[in-house]
This record gives sequence, C-alpha cells and structure tokens, in this order.
Amino acid sequence: MDFQILIIGSGPGGYVAAIRCAQLGMKVALVEKYASLGGTCLNVGCIPSKALLDSSEHYDQAMHQFASHGLRVKGIDLDMPQMIRRKDEVVDATVKGVKFLMKKNKIEVFHGTASFKGPHEVEIKKSDGQLLTVQAEKIIIATGSKPLTPAAFHYDKERIITSTEALNIREVPGRMVIIGAGVIGLELGSVFSRLGTKVEVIEFLDRILPGMDGECAREMKKILEKKGMVFHLNHSVDGVIKSKKGVEVSYSDKNTKESFKLQSDYCLVAIGRRPFTEGLDLAKAGVSQDEKGRILVNEQLQTAVPHIYAIGDVVRGPMLAHKASEEGILVAEIMAGQKPHIDYNLIPGVVYTWPELAGVGKTEEQLKEEGNNYKTGKFPFKALGRAKASMDTEGFVKVLSDASTDEVLGVHILGARAADLIMEAVSLMEFKASAEDIARISHPHPTFSEAIKEAGFAAWTGKSLHL
Ligand code: FAD
Ligand code: NAI
Repeated sequence: MDFQILIIGSGPGGYVAAIRCAQLGMKVALVEKYASLGGTCLNVGCIPSKALLDSSEHYDQAMHQFASHGLRVKGIDLDMPQMIRRKDEVVDATVKGVKFLMKKNKIEVFHGTASFKGPHEVEIKKSDGQLLTVQAEKIIIATGSKPLTPAAFHYDKERIITSTEALNIREVPGRMVIIGAGVIGLELGSVFSRLGTKVEVIEFLDRILPGMDGECAREMKKILEKKGMVFHLNHSVDGVIKSKKGVEVSYSDKNTKESFKLQSDYCLVAIGRRPFTEGLDLAKAGVSQDEKGRILVNEQLQTAVPHIYAIGDVVRGPMLAHKASEEGILVAEIMAGQKPHIDYNLIPGVVYTWPELAGVGKTEEQLKEEGNNYKTGKFPFKALGRAKASMDTEGFVKVLSDASTDEVLGVHILGARAADLIMEAVSLMEFKASAEDIARISHPHPTFSEAIKEAGFAAWTGKSLHL
C-alpha cells in the first residue's frame, strides 16, 4: 500500500480528517480535483459569503446608521468590483492556509479527480490528463455536495444562477428573484438587498428557514421585510427562462393555483444541495447510496465496505462545515483505535443575516412533536443596555428547558452576534446544564450575553430580572 489513509475531497471534512490522521501518526494522502484546497466552504461557501455579508453590512450601516451616531459621511460610493476583489483575497489567504497546514503535517496532496478502481485502489486523473493509481489501507470519501438545479429552472450560470455565481456578480443587480427561503436565500438575499437590489424570495413552504425555530423564523421574516425583502410563501416555481431583459420566473400559489410571472435581472436558485459522488465509480469499491444519493454509513461513518468511510455533506445529517469537520476528526480517531463521539443534537445552526439567527438543541416545534413537557424563558435584546448602546435591539433569546428536571433542551437566539453567543449554550448543553445553571453563571455587563442569563432566569423561575 502507498498510504495508510487516502482522503478524497479537501473541504472542511476532508482536510480536517487529514490533519487529525497525520497528528495520530498515520501516513496520509489527500486528493482534490480543483487547484485550490478547502472545498465548497472555503472557496464558494462559508468564507466568501461571510466576506460579502460583512462588506454589505458596513455599507448598510454607513447608509442607515452612521447619521444616528453623529457621523455624517457624504458621497458613499459602492465599488462592487473592489468588494469582490476583497472577498477573493480573503478566500485566497484562507485556502493558502490549508495548503500550508497540509505541508506542515506532511500530508501528500494530489490534484486530480479520484475514481475507484477497487476497494483499496483509486485512480487520479490530473488536469493534464495524466493518470496515477494510488493504493491505501483505508479511504475516506469527503466529496461534499452541489446545488440542486432542476431542469425546469434552466440554470445557465449567467442570469439563472446558484450561490457559486452569485458570489461573483460585479455590479449591483436592479432585481433578483431568489427561489428558496433557506439559509443561502436569506444570506445572499441580505447581501444584495443591502446593496440596493430589489429582492423577492419565492418559497414553497408556509415559512422561511425550515429546521430553525419557528418563532425566530417568523420574527426574522418581519425584520427582513422591514428592510425591503419581499417573500412569496406557499408558492411553487413552475419554470425559469432567460428573457430579453434578464429572466422570467413563473410561479403559482400552491392553494389557489393562481399563476404569476416575475421579470428580473437574475434568478438565484437556492433550494438545497445534493450529495456529490459523480465520477467516483462507487460500485467498483462496493460502496452503496440511499435514494437521495447520500453514501450510506453506520454510526462510525463506515460505508458498506468497512475500510472505506464517508463524512460531511456526502452523508446524512446537516450540510454544515463544522459537522463535516467533527466527522473527519471522529473517523481519524476511530481508525486510531479511540472511541470518539458526536452529539448530533448539539451541532449548532447559524444564519449570518443581520440580526443573526443561531440555534442549538430542540426547537419548540420538535419538542411539541415529541410530546415533551417544557418551559420557555425569553428575553428581548431591546431591554439590554449593551444592545441599546449599539442600536442592535432587534430579536430575543429563548431558552427551552425540561419542565420537571430543568435541563436545557434548546436555545435559540435571534439578534446581534447570535453566531458567537450560541457557543455558551452549546458548551452548557454538552455538560447537561439546567436553566438555573445559566441563570446563576455570572455574565459580564454590559454584554449581549446577559440576554442568555435573563432568558435562563425566565425559564427557571418564570421571571427575568430586567423585564
Ligand atoms: P466540500 O466542502 O463540498 O468539499 C468537497 C471537496 O471534494 C470539493 O473540494 C470537491 O472539489 C472535492 N471532490 C469532489 N469529488 C472529487 C473527486 N472525485 N476527486 C477529488 N476531489 C473531489 N456551512 C457552515 O457550517 N457555515 C456556513 O456559514 C456555511 N455557508 C455556506 C455558504 C454557501 C454559499 C454554501 C454553498 C455552503 C455553506 N455552508 C456553510 C456549507 C458548507 O460549505 C458545507 O457543509 C461544507 O463545505 C461541507 O464540507 P465537505 O468537506 O463535506 O465538502
Ligand atoms: P436550504 O435547505 O437551507 O433551503 C432551501 C429552501 O428552498 C427551503 O426553504 C425549501 O423549502 C425551499 N424550496 C425547495 N424547493 C423549492 C421550490 N421548488 N420552490 C421554492 N422553494 C423551494 O438550502 P440552501 O439555502 O440552498 O442551502 C443549502 C445548504 O447549505 C443548507 O442546507 C445549509 O446546510 C448549507 N448552508 C449553510 C449556511 C450556514 O450555516 N450559515 C449558509 C449557506 C448554506
């Protein structure tokens, strides 16, 4: 065998698995079909989208908030090409960091497309057509996912686009229709809406952000509507075609069947992602998939072939970078004979709009469905000194705890810095904290984190202190 471990795919699943395997003393190789490492997350996902969210937030604040702070800025120019250049620089620096980490950990990196020749053998086709065969004792598949693009939407990468192309638009579109009010729809919708695009979102369901806490999602919708985004819930898109002036989106009301048309400059298709296994030739290795194309794995993330593992977006579970990385670490440690564990209930979900939305554990909908007897403690940011000082008064913290044991079952935060605040709840829930524990822990004043303490107090005693 050439290597102990061969990893296919260099996203946050694959490259983190590679580092952990190397740390545990294994001889590791990583294959990536693109020239840069880091996968979807670093190249066309988490990092570039956050870079544009930050830039557009600055613009929005300069346009709408600076004056209240006594800052009069005249003649703000929006330089979209520079915004995209900065985003590219952030991506470049981040992917170079992964390259450095591979070198530092003595991980052999091959650039080319991997396909199975047999259960221990993988062929790598390089971009110049050269073929290379590598044998490994164990293999980790971490090939990630791609956007869903139904044929009726006529995805053309120019006007009918996915997130990948949306991250590279170099002028501010006049109008954008977004199909899907999920995480991508709202994050990228926020970017363009802040820059001045008229954004309309068509969503199949009767709510936005399925999977997140319903009350938080309803409040988020109101906030985004106030900022100018338009939502068409309960509508299904029948087709999208390129028109003379841009695109034409046909959609209909799910209940009345009434149909409508929208003309737009761009149509962003953001209706979810599918596992990516094209070209892998999984059958040659004996690896099987479910009806959605996900590679089937057991609790240890082993496929039908015990020495072949699969992690990240290509297997069941939330399609999140930190979930992929945890699975990479888990597999490396299992292969080293350790007994690691992931609590999938405690993988936090975050939407990086402004305000941000973050949640961990059960939502109220899940608790009701499971017939759980629970208590709710809520605290609004508008009652916090810190939030008033920075004018970030929208949203609230909600703590859900078991009615008899007081154990925290879920925490949901809609508000400023929710993405970072949620970690307090994740840590406490990892240690099975009660709402009383949250209430008794000293939180620095004045901070946004005090809202978590107050919501904990409310869940524990029925009352918060400052309300
Ligand atoms: P990927 O990152 O998709 O990596 C898979 C890699 O495998 C790719 O580089 C691919 O080229 C390579 N590959 C595939 N087939 C082969 C082959 N045959 N041979 C060689 N290489 C191959 N998640 C978050 O947690 N937070 C966020 O803020 C966030 N923002 C996002 C924003 C956007 C716009 C998008 C699209 C996604 C976002 N995600 C976010 C999701 C996150 O990007 C994914 O969950 C994560 O990248 C999955 O990691 P992975 O390692 O499983 O796969
Ligand atoms: P999503 O699953 O979050 O949302 C898709 C939305 O589209 C859903 O609300 C769904 O009901 C709707 N939909 C599906 N088919 C439709 C149709 N035909 N017409 C109208 N609406 C339809 O998927 P999204 O936003 O594409 O993101 C993909 C994945 O990427 C996410 O599930 C998430 O795991 C990951 N991601 C994570 C981010 C984060 O952690 N901050 C940011 C961006 C993406």
